[in-house]
Amino acid sequence: MLEKLSPLPPDPILGTTVACRNDPNPDKVDLGVGVYKDAGGNTPVFEAVVEAEARILAAQTTKAYVSPPGDSRFIEGVTRILFGEDHPVLADGRVGAVQAPGGSGALRVLAGVLLRAQADTELWVSTPTWGNHIPLLGAAGLDMQQYPYYDRGAHALSFDAMVEALKQRGPGEVVLLHGCCHNPSGADLTREQWDVVGDLAEERGFTPFIDFAYHGLGEGLDDDAYGVRMLARRVPELIVAYSASKNFGLYRERTGLAITVDATAEQAATATSQMANIARELYSMPPAHGASIVGEILADVELTASWTGEVTAMRDRLNGLRALLSRSLAETTGTDEFDYIAGERGLFSFLGLSPEQVQRLQSERSVYLIPSSRINVAGITEANVGYVAESIASVL
Ligand SMILES: Cc1ncc(COP(=O)(O)O)c(C=O)c1O
Repeated sequence: MLEKLSPLPPDPILGTTVACRNDPNPDKVDLGVGVYKDAGGNTPVFEAVVEAEARILAAQTTKAYVSPPGDSRFIEGVTRILFGEDHPVLADGRVGAVQAPGGSGALRVLAGVLLRAQADTELWVSTPTWGNHIPLLGAAGLDMQQYPYYDRGAHALSFDAMVEALKQRGPGEVVLLHGCCHNPSGADLTREQWDVVGDLAEERGFTPFIDFAYHGLGEGLDDDAYGVRMLARRVPELIVAYSASKNFGLYRERTGLAITVDATAEQAATATSQMANIARELYSMPPAHGASIVGEILADVELTASWTGEVTAMRDRLNGLRALLSRSLAETTGTDEFDYIAGERGLFSFLGLSPEQVQRLQSERSVYLIPSSRINVAGITEANVGYVAESIASVL
């Protein structure tokens, strides 16, 4: 039976990483894969994580299953840093939540809950959006639709077109928004634009669904949560997929949270029971380790302070690299064409190059990016930024 399957090509992003690894050029630069890297090119384990792990291992007495909704300290800690200490939805018990394997697992569980609520749910995602949104959420069974978001030529949001598309949405339709650090464009909504989305959600009655995979990497832990907190105050129902992969550096520990904000506490309890049941169908029980680390950090004042400092350093480095790359490109190209990079946020920005130019960067300069010309800013260092900027100028 299995001989009927045909082989699939490797993932293009992973293919870029492998090609870069095999390139003997000592000047090579990998701007492809989407993980944070420090100045040494490493994806470090946070010090707060090392300390939390040590404490957990010392106190551990069992490997028995975690409960179906997951680690309660993790859920309490994440919902607190997400909504903020005094948010009315927490005080009113209107939050349903289930631990999930990464942000991807949270997206999958939430897709399941939307489909159980309404079998023909339409989910509207931005163009462009994270490369796995449509495969993952579409495979779950949601009817995937797209709204305009980013104009690659103008290097700016297509906000007017987005608003026009959202004006056509209504009750029973779901609109996916990136909480911050939009992947792949790096272009985020301003507070004023978030407020317009809030007005539209209230007026039109669609349900906002926020994918929050970069909390703290944009402007700050509170600033990045502006959209989530504002919407949770204004609309009766909100969906959030939270990932601790980037902001706790826990990628391989698969640490995420599926969250619903519901109209009443009773409905939140119902949503939690449904999500736990969907998880049971998919993978039975959540993994323990990553969530226990996040729970340990967020339950401890000193570890929280240490973690916050590390997130701040990561964010400052990314934003500093953005400014540095824009300045270097202004010098090498003699134009202000790349100034927008400094104002975008998170790991990614588009350079606006053609696939042929991307290929030339790879073959002539050993600078690796994916064909859409999305770069991972964290692949730049003070040492290689000049080379990267010269290389980009050489293919323009
Ligand atoms: C926008 C977005 N959502 C979700 C995810 C999934 O994250 P995780 O690794 O936690 O599944 C990512 C990861 O790159 C992402 O960029």
